Amino acid sequence: MPVIVLVGAQWGDEGKGKATDLLGDRLDYVVKFNGGNNAGHTVVIDGEKYALHLLPSGILSPGVVPVIGNGVVVDLNVLFQEIDGLEARGIDTSRLRISANAHVIASYNRTLDKVTERFLGSRRIGTTGRGIGPTYADKMNRVGIRVQDLFDESILRQKVTAALGFKNQVLSKIYNRTGAKVDDVVQELLSYVERLRPYVADTALELSQAIDGGKVVLCEAGQATLLDVDHGTYPFVTSSNATSGGACTGSGIPPTRIDRVVAVLKAFTTRVGEGPFPTELHDKFGDYLREVGHEYGTTTGRPRRIGWLDLVIGRYAQRINGVTDFAMTKLDNYDGLDEIPVCVAYEVNGVRHDEMPVNQTDFHHAVPIFETLPGWKQDISGCRKFEDLPQEAQDFVEFVEARIGARISIVGVGPGREAVIERHSVLGGV
Ligand code: GDP
Ligand code: IMO
Ligand code: MG
Repeated sequence: MPVIVLVGAQWGDEGKGKATDLLGDRLDYVVKFNGGNNAGHTVVIDGEKYALHLLPSGILSPGVVPVIGNGVVVDLNVLFQEIDGLEARGIDTSRLRISANAHVIASYNRTLDKVTERFLGSRRIGTTGRGIGPTYADKMNRVGIRVQDLFDESILRQKVTAALGFKNQVLSKIYNRTGAKVDDVVQELLSYVERLRPYVADTALELSQAIDGGKVVLCEAGQATLLDVDHGTYPFVTSSNATSGGACTGSGIPPTRIDRVVAVLKAFTTRVGEGPFPTELHDKFGDYLREVGHEYGTTTGRPRRIGWLDLVIGRYAQRINGVTDFAMTKLDNYDGLDEIPVCVAYEVNGVRHDEMPVNQTDFHHAVPIFETLPGWKQDISGCRKFEDLPQEAQDFVEFVEARIGARISIVGVGPGREAVIERHSVLGGV
């Protein structure tokens, strides 16, 4: 039985939540393995919209055990708000499992995220301000607070004291802010303990046993390939590994047990926050796609930056993640266009690049080389088989497929759970 990793191929917001939800009734476990509530997944079921940030999208599928893996950073206040919000709408969240090794986002890290961005000014990253970067930095610096620390007050106090010893100096001396008090931080974290207790588990062990028992496990990435701290457009990235390798370290599932990697590729490109973006549009086409695609951030409400589809990025995502199947989303957003430019390579200082330039300066200066395909100028949201699509839309999908190194198994033609064409089973017949 397969273990599947699902990642974003571009800069996030490709529709990973919808893709997970689509597979939901064939899955036993959905594991979030990186990031935290910087993610925003919108899932539409029977016209009802759900916005998830911290909980894995699998929480919406009744048979699925949702898991927050060790690689996630958890804001406990957001966790319980999200649980309460879903429970109020009749979604059962009691199956949730949370790794005892996941790190907790403490209040001082939310503060530091915001003040650091302000301090950077024009060099800011454009973070979501949720404390993600400082919390991962603490993890690497070995001064982080883990979920399991909350169950031993004396250890928790020692760890918070150690962290604040340094952080309060930074907050007061560099950023001119009042530091946090150890007691306040400890008390806030302890206030969640009783609610948290039933969810906490050795999730790596449970997942190992589940896989041994033939269960179907999907590891769902937050963020995406180009936001990955190692493989993305550093420093304009998030602070975790959002690529398929992160699924192993962030869940405890070893690479030898992973069967398939699905990458979600939006039919055009979007980005939130700062950083290079070769196919970015600053014209009426960008505005048009932002409006028909409702491209405003689920987490921060910021208008997303829009660009044409970039196949250099698609190929890169295939190679870095070992993609076996792509899910192409939002093909329907092209319904009104006469023609669709697609970036097939870059030109940098007169030299053609078919692969991602390794040098960041080159990527900043990359000028897209486009091929232009004809549009179909009709509503495709009702199509459920590939053959139902107009010839131009089929040709578009096949043009992309021929250039990105893996088959396009799923095509999204609308936001709803039903608005999808499945060309191949990504679960190998499950
Ligand atoms: P995620 O962060 O990767 O889960 O993606 P988001 O939820 O942030 O953004 C994707 C948006 O596209 C959501 O509003 C989805 O409802 C919507 N969506 C996903 N697939 C499709 C599709 O095939 N067509 C259309 N029109 N919308 C889609
Ligand atoms: P989903 O899972 C799009 C971006 C932020 C910023 C950078 C760093 O919905 O695809 P951070 O707060 O993580 O330190 O911000 O990463 N970013 C996202 N962009 N989708 C996301 O998640 C994102 N999560 C973070 O905008 O540029
Ligand atoms: Mg999103």
